[in-house]
Amino acid sequence: MTSAFYITTPIYYVNAKPHLGHTYTTIAADVARRFHQMKGKRTFFLTGTDEHGDKIVKAAEANDMEPHTYADKISALFKELWPHYWISPDRFIRTTDADHVAVVQRILQEIYDAGDIYFSEYEGLYCFDCEQFYGERDLVDGKCPDHAKETVPIKESNYFFRMSRYQQWLIDYIHENPDLIQPERYKNEVLGFLREPLEDLCISRPKSRLQWGITLPFDERYVTYVWFDALINYISALGYPNGEKFETFWPHVHHVVAKDILKPHGIYWPIMLKAAGIKIYKHLFVHGYWNVDESKMSKSLGNVIDPIELKESYGSDAIRYFLMREMTFGLDSSFSEVALINRINADLANDLGNLFSRVLAMFQKYFKGVVPDWNPEESRVMGFDLKAGAKQAIADFTAEMENFAFHRGLASVWEYIGMMNKFVDTAAPWELAKQESGQERLKAVIGNLLEGLRVVSGLIYPVMPETSATMQVHLGQDPDHEFYLVDELRKWGFIQPGARLPKGISLFPRLDPDAVFAEDKATGKHAAETKKAQAQQYTPLEAEISLDDFSGIDLRAATVETAEKLPKADKLLKLGVNLGFEKRTVVAGIAEFYEPGDLIGKTVVVLANLKPAKLRGVSSEGMVLAALDRENASVAVLDRPMPPGTRLK
Ligand code: ME8
Ligand code: MG
Repeated sequence: MTSAFYITTPIYYVNAKPHLGHTYTTIAADVARRFHQMKGKRTFFLTGTDEHGDKIVKAAEANDMEPHTYADKISALFKELWPHYWISPDRFIRTTDADHVAVVQRILQEIYDAGDIYFSEYEGLYCFDCEQFYGERDLVDGKCPDHAKETVPIKESNYFFRMSRYQQWLIDYIHENPDLIQPERYKNEVLGFLREPLEDLCISRPKSRLQWGITLPFDERYVTYVWFDALINYISALGYPNGEKFETFWPHVHHVVAKDILKPHGIYWPIMLKAAGIKIYKHLFVHGYWNVDESKMSKSLGNVIDPIELKESYGSDAIRYFLMREMTFGLDSSFSEVALINRINADLANDLGNLFSRVLAMFQKYFKGVVPDWNPEESRVMGFDLKAGAKQAIADFTAEMENFAFHRGLASVWEYIGMMNKFVDTAAPWELAKQESGQERLKAVIGNLLEGLRVVSGLIYPVMPETSATMQVHLGQDPDHEFYLVDELRKWGFIQPGARLPKGISLFPRLDPDAVFAEDKATGKHAAETKKAQAQQYTPLEAEISLDDFSGIDLRAATVETAEKLPKADKLLKLGVNLGFEKRTVVAGIAEFYEPGDLIGKTVVVLANLKPAKLRGVSSEGMVLAALDRENASVAVLDRPMPPGTRLK
């Protein structure tokens, strides 16, 4: 058995913020990585962002930013998204990273020196969204086959990569390595492309047209084509050509992509590797699209689901589970919140959640939280053998996960969960508990169930790491130790007699779809959203006070006479207020929302007996009352003229 595993996602374009499609691929890669951790492998997980090219320049212009500042901003959104979903890449690569740029230039030079890159004049139809030339026959209704946009005829001199030379080699290689591209339908699709003559690939763009790219090492008037830059990330991230990391992980690389980028990964990339004298990648795993109402979820269509909002409503594990369970890897799937809620209720709240809470509740009730002395050797109880069931579940699960059939891997775990639920119903521990003669059997039932739950907690580790760790804690195990190792899961009898276990919890509360989807008449929003918004809006009330307590608070009407921003403090305004009997300086944290002039002449409310405090070197003698949250501020003013100094009560 090999001891290393390397998994990559596409590096995502930084022309828009991440959506659920990107999240799916990255979760799938994380699931595969965690599965290989279960097998005891050393793993390396790579994701990142693809930042060069015309598309990014256009997006930056539309946002009135320089390409590099714009790329910094969007790249950070991707990087910061992953921890929300319990994903921690070993490297987050950016194509603007200096080490990556150096590797791209090195490979270009090598291929050029070997004679596989040549200079030529070319005329073709260009799609700016794909950053690619098309031949007439590639177009659909005269438009780009991917973006359905008009192509533009462009004539220019460029550098070409002699791909055609490797066409037969690639066909043979795919036949000799039938599991190179999976699932099989995509291997067949690539072989289909290869039935037509392969054209050489235009790999440069003149700087007169595009500067935001990597300069060709042999001609500084040109930058390289985005795909030639992007694909190389998979090796530059490992420190190619040097070092231990490259040698350890490259032979075990698994690329994960969706079908939109099958051609660059199935054709350009193996040929680039071959031309550069680098071993061809081991596997390419290709999945389908998440659709919304029959169309692909995509930034160009504007029908995207925001992964952070989704996580805030449903939690990371539930979404990870749904995405992995609902989509057959390789085929398209439809996203809907109804389907998500149904899965959460049926699989997570009912099957898993109920089993877990009822087993732990019975355990607490009948054994007061102390594991009884049960004999793991006697795993066959009342016609059920949870040990044999676990063995089967582990075997099925590992076989499916190995092939990225995540939905089937999970189905085999849920089959086992179903078996345990049936066992509880059949064994009826509540009946056993009533009988003197049922005590030994009760111990065996509960002991086996606790042990079965331990196996389940390990098997869900790749897909639901958070729940997996929670279950471990409640089963008295140490979630920091590598409990998920398949070798450990295969052992039966971890839950030690005499051990004291904490009380169980509800892992996944049931969601009421009617309540989630009920529209709030006033706002037109889902009740769930409204509830969330309300929770954010209303800070809890302070403890009750008496009128006496209030009389100690001296509020006065005051006229604002001067206002200025405090230097080096973006949030603070320094106000000069007149209280009638005296003038004071008050510092207010409203500068993000008010221009200094906005308040001059207004009668505001000042807490006048507040102890003075120094703010950025200015002594603030009182406080101006305002309604304030993160997005807005509104200063309290008197709605009719009143002399300054009047008390509010
Ligand atoms: O193509 N369903 O970047 P990209 C499923 N930079 N997956 C989806 C999806 C959907 N509706 N939408 C996007 C690029 N994806 C290049 C890649 S790699 C060397 C360079 C995911 O931002 C899926 O993984 O357009 C798809 O392949 C990828 O995002 C495309 O991301
Ligand atoms: Mg795309």
